[in-house]
Amino acid sequence: MSSRSDIDDHMSEKKFYIKTFGCQMNKNDSDIIIELLKRDSYYSVEDPDEADIYIINTCSVREHAEQRALGHISSLKQWRSKPGRRLVIAGCMAQRIADDIVKKYPFVDLVLGPDTYRSIGKFIDGIYRSITRISDTQLSLEVYNKIYPKSSGVCEFVSIMRGCDNYCSYCIVPYVRGRARSRPVNDILAQIKRLIENNTKDITLLGQNVNEYRHGSVNFTGLLNEIAKITGLVRLRFLTSHPKDLNDEVIETIASKQNVCEWFHLPLQSGCDRILHLMNRQYNKEYYLKLVSKIRHKIPQATITTDIITGFPTETDDEFKETIEVMEKIQFDDAYMYRYSARKGTRAFQYETLPEGIIKDRLKEVIDIQNNIVEHKTKEMIGRKYEILFEGPASDRGTRGKTRGNKDIVVEKKIEPGVLATVVVKKVKGRTPIAEIVE
Ligand code: SAH
Ligand code: SF4
Ligand code: F3S
Repeated sequence: MSSRSDIDDHMSEKKFYIKTFGCQMNKNDSDIIIELLKRDSYYSVEDPDEADIYIINTCSVREHAEQRALGHISSLKQWRSKPGRRLVIAGCMAQRIADDIVKKYPFVDLVLGPDTYRSIGKFIDGIYRSITRISDTQLSLEVYNKIYPKSSGVCEFVSIMRGCDNYCSYCIVPYVRGRARSRPVNDILAQIKRLIENNTKDITLLGQNVNEYRHGSVNFTGLLNEIAKITGLVRLRFLTSHPKDLNDEVIETIASKQNVCEWFHLPLQSGCDRILHLMNRQYNKEYYLKLVSKIRHKIPQATITTDIITGFPTETDDEFKETIEVMEKIQFDDAYMYRYSARKGTRAFQYETLPEGIIKDRLKEVIDIQNNIVEHKTKEMIGRKYEILFEGPASDRGTRGKTRGNKDIVVEKKIEPGVLATVVVKKVKGRTPIAEIVE
């Protein structure tokens, strides 16, 4: 049983620290946790040494992400040994291997899956009041309605969907995040209006596949049109578009609405039809290339970024070369490139993995190719005009901002965050375009 002073300390202190691994969605979930705990009169601190409760929000997407989270848990054994402290493991890895965590890390007090955060305050009280360790990984249709994390940045993220039903054969997300479901339109609008009142100007909508958004009779284009109407919203973007679902309506909305930005994050994964089929991506190379041509025809200045996986099981050298060919043909503005990581429970787990060396060499090759493309594209920006929304200080005294296409640009003087200006790029420093304001 916890000692009386332990409980008293907890009741008077109630300070927590949260460390987040993983994607934007997980960062958003951490903000939801912070908001929910604040409602229960806990408050967040920046220094773990001041905290009574340490929360790790984990990611499961690749083996490496899990190893980092597990390493971090191990490193907290010492931290946890001080009286009055409790350790909470949340998020996607917690969902996937809750039982293992409980077994292997006796100093972990609470394990929570992504759909259980509404009860986090109650659970924390529970672990202080009794010796019972708690684990809850019930998945549900939770969308965290009416929870608006307090944020005041120029650019903020708003989740419009949770979960995923696509079951790409390599991907753990549908298993750890549950069924795809959409947040009600009014709730999304209310959150965005609040953010704008708090000086946010640039909103990125989040979902594993935002194009599948549907609530009642409102689909994704309907939602975009509703949000675009909000007064004071300068820029609207979204992430991620599954290529199979990005339709003409959405492209049209981007082309016609002033505040909807010309940026498409369209994960390709592979440029080979056989591999795309094995990945269960539901499109082929020809479809993808046509989609990109269509976007560029309607919106010539569009930024197109992607995700690539190298060394999917059975991928041959020639099949890998097809991915390189597509990358060279399309000239993506940016790419997140990953080596394939087998995830237990997914369909691809049954396939024999390629030797680690091959997977790694292929990754290095795509990274080199993409770096050259980015270098070339960045140089091409010199002399061109861009509309920039300034976000905050850059490392070397200047101010950092983004183009409508989501590219970083630095202006070498101090400018208030939230200012919108037209700039001309003058030079490139490292990988960063440096610009001067013209209007
Ligand atoms: N819902 C988004 C992104 C999900 S995860 C989409 O559909 O694109 C982000 C990226 O991680 C994926 O696009 C994919 O490139 C990569 N990824 C997912 N599972 C992976 C795995 N098992 N091994 C390597 N990369 C993976
Ligand atoms: Fe994973 Fe595919 Fe869903 Fe994206 S669309 S989260 S890659 S299953
Ligand atoms: Fe995101 Fe990782 Fe979960 S990528 S959805 S935090 S598995």
